[in-house]
Amino acid sequence: MDTKQLIHEALEARNMAWAPYSNFLVGAALLCANGKVYRGCNIENAAFGPGNCAERTAIFKAVSEGERDFVSIAVVGGPRENTGDLGFAYPCGVCRQVMLEFCKPDFEIIVAANQETYKRHTLAELLPKGFKAKELSGANTAK
Ligand code: THU
Repeated sequence: MDTKQLIHEALEARNMAWAPYSNFLVGAALLCANGKVYRGCNIENAAFGPGNCAERTAIFKAVSEGERDFVSIAVVGGPRENTGDLGFAYPCGVCRQVMLEFCKPDFEIIVAANQETYKRHTLAELLPKGFKAKELSGANTAK
């Protein structure tokens, strides 16, 4: 699965977005180490709070199917009327935190405006010094 294919999967996922309140449609495609791809879209709600981002939809779908070994994610997002060139929609802070739970620092985040125009980042770049399980154990002391 090359980058352009993964972006294509994310664009297909964006077509499924349920975003009647923001009209900002987001799609994500999560590549697992075993080659499987899980798609996700944003899913909004009339009560606003219960909505979910595309990235988390993809990650939760994958984890709930037993997948935990992730290589990369492609993300595409933009206003409903934008179809060709979407601009760059970076994952929100909550989605970055969810990525940190399952992904290594070199996990690749591909933020794409279209299949030809994209930026690559690592999770470590987008969420340095994040909160992890080791903090809970007290192992990460100042000493
Ligand atoms: N959204 C995502 O799906 N992913 C992000 O990382 C940022 C925001 C969605 C949430 C909401 O449905 C819409 O975009 C506008 O914020």
